[in-house]
Amino acid sequence: MTRDQAAQRIAKLRSEIRHHEYLYYVEDKPAISDEEFDRLFHELEDLEAKHPDLVSEDSPTQRVAGSPLDSFPTVEHAAPMLSLDSSQDEDNLRRFDERLRKGLGDTPVEYVLEPKLDGLSMELVYRDGILVQAVTRGDGRKGEGVTANVRTIASVPLKLRESDRPAPPFLSVRGEIIMFAKDFDRLNERLIAEGKEPFASPRNSAAGTVRQLDPQLTASRPLHFYAYDILASEGVDGIETQWDLLQALRAWGLKVNERIKKGKTLDDILAYHQGFEAERDDLGYEIDGVVIKLNDLADRETLGWTSRHPRWAYAFKFPPRKEVTRILSILPSVGRTGVVTPVAIMLPVEIGGVTVARATLHNREEVARKDVREGDRVRVQRAGDVIPQVIERIEEPGHERSPEWKMPDVCPSCGTRLIERGPFTVCPNSFECPAQLAGRIVHFASRDALDIEGLGDETSKLFVAEGLVKQLPDLFEIRPEQLVVLEGFAQKSANKLVDALKKVASAAELPRFLYGLGIPEVGVAVARDLARHFGTFARLRAADEATLQEVPGVGPRMAEQITAFFAEPTNAKVLDELTARMHLVETEPSTSSGGDGAVKPLAGQKWVFTGGLTRLTRRDAQTYVESLGARATGSVSKSTDVVVVGEDAGSKAEDARKLGVQTMNEEEFLTFLRGNGIDV
Ligand code: IVH
Repeated sequence: MTRDQAAQRIAKLRSEIRHHEYLYYVEDKPAISDEEFDRLFHELEDLEAKHPDLVSEDSPTQRVAGSPLDSFPTVEHAAPMLSLDSSQDEDNLRRFDERLRKGLGDTPVEYVLEPKLDGLSMELVYRDGILVQAVTRGDGRKGEGVTANVRTIASVPLKLRESDRPAPPFLSVRGEIIMFAKDFDRLNERLIAEGKEPFASPRNSAAGTVRQLDPQLTASRPLHFYAYDILASEGVDGIETQWDLLQALRAWGLKVNERIKKGKTLDDILAYHQGFEAERDDLGYEIDGVVIKLNDLADRETLGWTSRHPRWAYAFKFPPRKEVTRILSILPSVGRTGVVTPVAIMLPVEIGGVTVARATLHNREEVARKDVREGDRVRVQRAGDVIPQVIERIEEPGHERSPEWKMPDVCPSCGTRLIERGPFTVCPNSFECPAQLAGRIVHFASRDALDIEGLGDETSKLFVAEGLVKQLPDLFEIRPEQLVVLEGFAQKSANKLVDALKKVASAAELPRFLYGLGIPEVGVAVARDLARHFGTFARLRAADEATLQEVPGVGPRMAEQITAFFAEPTNAKVLDELTARMHLVETEPSTSSGGDGAVKPLAGQKWVFTGGLTRLTRRDAQTYVESLGARATGSVSKSTDVVVVGEDAGSKAEDARKLGVQTMNEEEFLTFLRGNGIDV
């Protein structure tokens, strides 16, 4: 392919990819499969890698580019980003409507009604259709330039569409960045599992994600941008109303909320507000009210602004989802994996239409940090579908407080002595603790573990409740005649489940068995690596922490958890019984960490990337070395094999030099990849 042909193909691919991104992220109506999309994307990446001079900032491949920053620049807005007058009170809304009608004399009034998205207000600046800047609201006049982070948001076009309207020479758009409730819940679950502080609300999490310095991190957390205003523009005509304006934003490929509506009367506004309030929990994202805007832009000029708010718009808010109540008691609750969570039992209080009587306090350090005790007055919050949280304690001068709350020493479910793992407290009696048992069975039988059909959530709970299974090995003692008397079982299904159990007992693959044990931190991939490294269960059980850390992917923390799991006496007893009843399919330990028998060239090596790469994304570079058998890790140590040093690299490059670790620059790295059959 000549350079000209490549340039043409690149242009074609970019416009196709942009179109499909638009259909997927903005219209929510994908027209091609993920695989087809990936194929186009990879073709573009390959061509750009071969012709680096053809890479441009607005290429879809360049969303996640750039290395962590030291700070954000301060940037002045194209026009001040003001806020709205607001209230939850219907009388205030009525007064706004009256004042507005009076100000306009006899002109008929039409409003545009929009949801008030609860996120982070953002300015996007486009020059000649290309996104050049994204700025937070800041003090309204100046904000922080967070362009590299905002570029990673898939619903933000890097280049405006020109299907119905040409892109103007200058356009400054205002909108809101939000995180969907399901993504927020998932992110918080992960943060809590990693022992990190969870975010208090989707809004905090969106703001925190945009206002941190590493674009790679922003890219890893799903955010969405909804446009609702033009702050300033040049060369835009034919827009006379807010409605036109929103349609124009849509035509340029920006996402505009699908529930915008026109209304004429106060009743229209009230009905819109009520409709949203009723649906608030099912929207999938947080809104804190509705916004009412005068539709006619010329009439807006007549009304003008106060020093802080426009006189032509109003936010009619919902009652807050935070309320104050009192903690009656704090109870330790044992979860499926043995983690003991302090739960605040509270005087029931209604928050946003739902009665709340329990809230999580996450872990013992959180209880200490917030200093909440039984009997305290607290502010409680509900955000999206998340479990209610205690935000803070409310000081009550003169009120005598209970003593500090303490985690119990023993498990409230099985009486085993509890252990501490980071900020968490855990019941180590993994297999016999009744609070954990049903969940353990489900996990043991799950698809990636021993894949036992017919042993799901309901059945496992039933087995535990009926006393049929008191610990995991009991599963293999179950006879069909014990099952047929249980609800939901017939002769056929009973036989089928017992046969499935027999089959598993006669030949269980070691990696699946290991994963099914639910050892803390041991996921499918680690289980596979452990099985490959040790070959037999007996060797793995006997391994000490140092030996475990020889396995790629096993760090000190994981090694400690694995040995602790095996050392726990009741676990040891259960594992003896389990292995006596099961035949494990084991192999000889392998010497390399490469898969499929072939030894990969970088097997067992650790690689670190630092600084910005110009020809590849960091993620692709990591994927390439991983495909050669290495692990891409975050920090440089004596055991690091190679550090690839990109542009503006910081302390890691120095660490490498101090420790005498081999380094490569980008050119050398690319040559190395090519030498190993990777076409970059
Ligand atoms: S219009 C001058 N429309 O609510 C009018 N704001 O104080 C500018 N917000 O900080 C705002 N959804 O971040 C407008 N559909 C919407 C909105 C919205 C959320 C936020 C915005 C602003 C606050 C109002």
